[in-house]
Amino acid sequence: MTADSSRCSSFRPGEVWKDTDGNVIQAHGGQVQKLIIRNDSGEDSYKWVWIGEDKTNGYRGGVCMYSSDDLYNWQFKGVVMRNVPSRDSLDTDEYFKKLYAGYSSDELDNVALSLSAERAVIERPKVIYSPKNDNYVLWFHADGPTPESDSNYAAACAGVAISKTPFGPYKFIDRYRLNICPPDQEDKYPKSRGMARDMNLFTDVDGSAYIIYSSEENLTLYISRLNDDYTYLAMKPEEAVYGKDFIRLFPGAQREAPALFLRNGKYYLMSSGCTGWAPNQARYYVADSVMGEWTSKKDPCIGDTKKTTFDSQSTCIFHEPESDTWIYMGDRWFSEALHDSRYIWLPLKFRDNGDMELSFVSEWKLKEDK
Ligand code: GAL
Repeated sequence: MTADSSRCSSFRPGEVWKDTDGNVIQAHGGQVQKLIIRNDSGEDSYKWVWIGEDKTNGYRGGVCMYSSDDLYNWQFKGVVMRNVPSRDSLDTDEYFKKLYAGYSSDELDNVALSLSAERAVIERPKVIYSPKNDNYVLWFHADGPTPESDSNYAAACAGVAISKTPFGPYKFIDRYRLNICPPDQEDKYPKSRGMARDMNLFTDVDGSAYIIYSSEENLTLYISRLNDDYTYLAMKPEEAVYGKDFIRLFPGAQREAPALFLRNGKYYLMSSGCTGWAPNQARYYVADSVMGEWTSKKDPCIGDTKKTTFDSQSTCIFHEPESDTWIYMGDRWFSEALHDSRYIWLPLKFRDNGDMELSFVSEWKLKEDK
């Protein structure tokens, strides 16, 4: 990450990070994973793929993707899900006409509403490959005002879009409210049920996929199982069985920015508190299965004197196998200049008992952190 567009050979958390064209990377609230990518000659190879929010124009934007061989140098692959400038553009713009060919007028109205460049909020996009349909499924926090409320976070939905190829274009399907608190448990926000805000995805070793998200006005995290093509919940909220199709985590604890991963048979979930763009203290949880009993652990940060997760908020934790490095990805949001928000990638360490530790390093390389 140097100030010019020359090649990077280290991570420098918090510094401006440019892509291989020399433009600042726009992939906030993102996710990094390794995917099999087919090149123009039909050959398959593994690539690192980074998806995240495009904040080029500030708060509202679409979703960008980048690819890399080494995790340091990222090639821009485009705005893979565009937001929609106006309802008319769906009927006139060639890109949208092609993408949404066959959609009814009502469906197009929903696309225009859910992806509106003027009103919609598109945050924390994550993608998973679906072997069942051989396609890529993008989930994101789909929000915006409703007829009842002008708040940017009134809709509180999870949005879904699909693409045949990893780098899009992703076609928006719909946005949904998700599972609701069972009647025998205390709903922390009964006046608006099924809310879904900050979110993430996790695919387990058996192929089951889950959406992890803040619900009940961000007071309670939920984990809900997806169906076998990963495009919706496993069961509709009215039919979902607590403990099998979904669980609630620490009702009232008010956590968001979830990042779930599996290491040595243990499931870890890192989260932040809920203070908007301002950073706060991280906390993590561990369990023996996704739908299992989650135990609350502490803040994994060491030497974080301000208790702000080194001025960052979690978005994804992933493993780099060659150097056996676990990487914490966080966002350092600049609320007054969201386009300039920074990426905080740090190596995560684990003690022999499995406890997690996160320390700040101003520059690091994968190999040194073996
Ligand atoms: C944070 C959330 C971000 C964004 C922000 C808006 O709490 O994690 O994704 O929604 O609030 O204030």
